[in-house]
Amino acid sequence: MADRYLRFAGTAPGRFLTRGLGLPQPAALHRWSAERPALEGPLLHLTAGKAGFDLADVPARTGLEVRTEAARPAAVLLDATGVADVDALAEVHAALHPVVGSVAASGRVVVLGTPPDPADHHRAAAQQALEGFVRSLGKEIGRGRTVTLVRVTGTASAAALESTLRFLLSPKSAYVSGQVIEVGGGEVTAPEDWSRPLAGRTALVTGAARGIGEAVAATLARDGATVVCLDVPSAGAELTAVAERLGGSALALDITAADAGARIADALPGGLDVLVHNAGITRDRRLVNMPAERWSPVLDVNLASVLRTTDALLDAGALRRGGRIVATASIAGLAGNAGQTNYAAAKAGVAGLVRSLAPRALAEHGITVNAVAPGFVETRMTAAVPLLIREAGRRMNSLGQGGLPVDVAETTAYFAHPASGAVNGQVLRVCGQSLLGA
Ligand SMILES: NC(=O)c1ccc[n+]([C@@H]2O[C@H](COP(=O)([O-])OP(=O)(O)OC[C@H]3O[C@@H](n4cnc5c(N)ncnc54)[C@H](O)[C@@H]3O)[C@@H](O)[C@H]2O)c1
Repeated sequence: MADRYLRFAGTAPGRFLTRGLGLPQPAALHRWSAERPALEGPLLHLTAGKAGFDLADVPARTGLEVRTEAARPAAVLLDATGVADVDALAEVHAALHPVVGSVAASGRVVVLGTPPDPADHHRAAAQQALEGFVRSLGKEIGRGRTVTLVRVTGTASAAALESTLRFLLSPKSAYVSGQVIEVGGGEVTAPEDWSRPLAGRTALVTGAARGIGEAVAATLARDGATVVCLDVPSAGAELTAVAERLGGSALALDITAADAGARIADALPGGLDVLVHNAGITRDRRLVNMPAERWSPVLDVNLASVLRTTDALLDAGALRRGGRIVATASIAGLAGNAGQTNYAAAKAGVAGLVRSLAPRALAEHGITVNAVAPGFVETRMTAAVPLLIREAGRRMNSLGQGGLPVDVAETTAYFAHPASGAVNGQVLRVCGQSLLGA
């Protein structure tokens, strides 16, 4: 279901009319393509507060030209890790106030901070202030520009930050805005070739016959992975077509089967590096009208099967060291949504699973566990939503438009990256900064 409003608002008469009527003016986002793989313009690197984080040559390694002054930057990286009290917040204002208006369309503002310090409430207040700042700037900056806060923990190194900065300072993060990402310690493996970081790795994607799962499989394949596409047997023809197109293999299997984990392990005797739990269903109804038949399958597909297959694959040692588990949650699970008590419970459960398992999986298996929480994404699932609710879903976010499956896929690929070993236990919204639970 094409977003006709977005297309119209991008034309000259559309711009004139939407501006005149005070309607949302969504910008055409610059997403990654082989022809336009990078942001276009320099990276302005600024510091607020006393000492900054030693980023070494990481900003330059993003491929952008790093400057301390630029008339029209494609991105601004503000190191605010040294902001230790309220007075220093004035330096955040002083750094960004003069330049924020000049950031190019579809540009980025990335602020580096630290997690609030439980031992220093002045520092904690100043660092927490950055979150409110970033979320507000994201709402007002417009023109397809995004704003993100990256919190660097005490154990993080410059190398630990590289995959996150490369992702955020690229068109791959076009629909990620107003979010906070934490980067900690953890094993980081720089790939030989940053354009094919998953070369030699095997990835399994559930629900890969269409929609977001298909895009995830395609993006992981673009990044060099051998993909195994899993979906229900009834999606067989679509599934085979996707797998063939991506040079991968198809596994027709209902993920809710009790032995799904064992069957995946059998199908992958060589082991697995990336496990993407993407399969999902909705059966919406308000709780008062929701029979158990609409509750149970949603909990089973979206949560119970994720727990079962994760446990089975970890127990079988099927996930190799350095592996990645990425689950698809939803902003409905974080914010709640009328008519979705079943779905939101399941997706909130996914976030709980991720946060609990992540530290143990990293310590015991060297595996990271993260989740992507999409907002409104243009797929068959949302095409089935009634028109008015669909329009509200599209417009009620800072970018004024729905996301595309590829936006969720790029974030999944970022988590799956071998250099993302220090990104763990995160639930990252890919929602254009949706107003739902923002
Ligand atoms: N589209 C959105 O706006 C949106 C928003 C938030 C979260 N999500 C989540 O993203 C994921 C993908 O959603 P989508 O929009 O691409 O949906 P979709 O309905 O287009 O695709 C889901 C796929 O999962 C498969 N699937 C369903 N049950 C399965 C099972 N038991 N075993 C194996 N495969 C199964 C389906 O056959 C289908 O191919 C889901 O987890 C969904 O909850 C989507």
